[in-house]
Amino acid sequence: MLILGIETSCDETSAALVADGKTVLSSTVAAQLDLLRKYGGVVPEIAARRHTELIGYVIKEALDSAVKTLEDVEAVAVTARQGLIGCLLVGVAAAKSISYARHVPLVGVHHIEGHIFANILSHPEIPLPHVCLTVSGGHTMLLYVREGCRYQLLGTTLDDAAGEAFDKIAKFLGLDFPGGPVIDRLAKQGDREAYHFPRPMIKSRAPDFSFSGLKTSVINAFKERVARGEALPLADIAASFQEAVVEVLVAKTMRAAEAKGVNAVSVTGGVSANSRLREAFREAALRQGVDVYFPNLSLCTDNAAMIAAAGYARMMLGEVSDLRLNVVPTAPLEV
Ligand code: KG4
Ligand code: ZN
Repeated sequence: MLILGIETSCDETSAALVADGKTVLSSTVAAQLDLLRKYGGVVPEIAARRHTELIGYVIKEALDSAVKTLEDVEAVAVTARQGLIGCLLVGVAAAKSISYARHVPLVGVHHIEGHIFANILSHPEIPLPHVCLTVSGGHTMLLYVREGCRYQLLGTTLDDAAGEAFDKIAKFLGLDFPGGPVIDRLAKQGDREAYHFPRPMIKSRAPDFSFSGLKTSVINAFKERVARGEALPLADIAASFQEAVVEVLVAKTMRAAEAKGVNAVSVTGGVSANSRLREAFREAALRQGVDVYFPNLSLCTDNAAMIAAAGYARMMLGEVSDLRLNVVPTAPLEV
């Protein structure tokens, strides 16, 4: 079955064609980097307007590069839950139009479930049950994946998402957008033990996260050095900050895996592209005798291929939407 996936929940306009929920025939992602740089972050109304300008071209590009036409599309999957409301509406309106005009089923997908399926697309062999850490600009979530499309929420962030902390620290340090990849690169030249920043909630038994205090502590350390007229070792700050985030993410996820008695961990979402996070997870997983999985780099950040894959899985469970499908900015992931 050929599924057209559409993703517009934040600042990437994306369309993809995926066959049978597992073979990616094309994946087109138009990022709004110029707008991010101009406004210092995502401005929801401006992002939504950009989606309306791009969505038609992006869908056409996805079809063309897979050498397919709309006549070949057998279902449309679209992100309908969790995201910026105006942005979600653009994708859902496009998906409904195609579903109505082509008489093909429509499936509304939860964005986080899309991220989970980005890893399943990359590694169909991930065993069930497993523990999944979804870590991105908007979310930091620990889930117990019982079986396909059945989840138990274990923990989430109490304030900033991990990717948001990367982006805010990068912005504060005057680095480019998005901050995660820039800090990842810069940290490679720095000393990760130069500063010992707090590891929030690392010892707490609760599987939740908090990154706002860490962010403040990095900003204060930076300001203190400026006040003392000292040189600013940006690479050391980046490496030390990144290490604090990585240690917390790894420790809490591995503890959750142990508590749940699973021997597989899936890490997904934009921050799962982080090179130090991958390295630290691999080391911890080896020590604990657990297998750890990451999505292919092209599937870590927001993309429509993961939405098509999740939509296919929902369709296989008989769950389809209809033209009454609405968008929900904040929605729990169905358990
Ligand atoms: O999954 P995503 O595209 O969007 C959301 O669903 O939020 O994730 C974007 C986030 C941004 O915060 C970005 O800075 C972060 O992922 N990110 C990274 C890296 N690549 C992207 N964070 C750390 N290291 C990276 N290499
Ligand atoms: Zn995302």
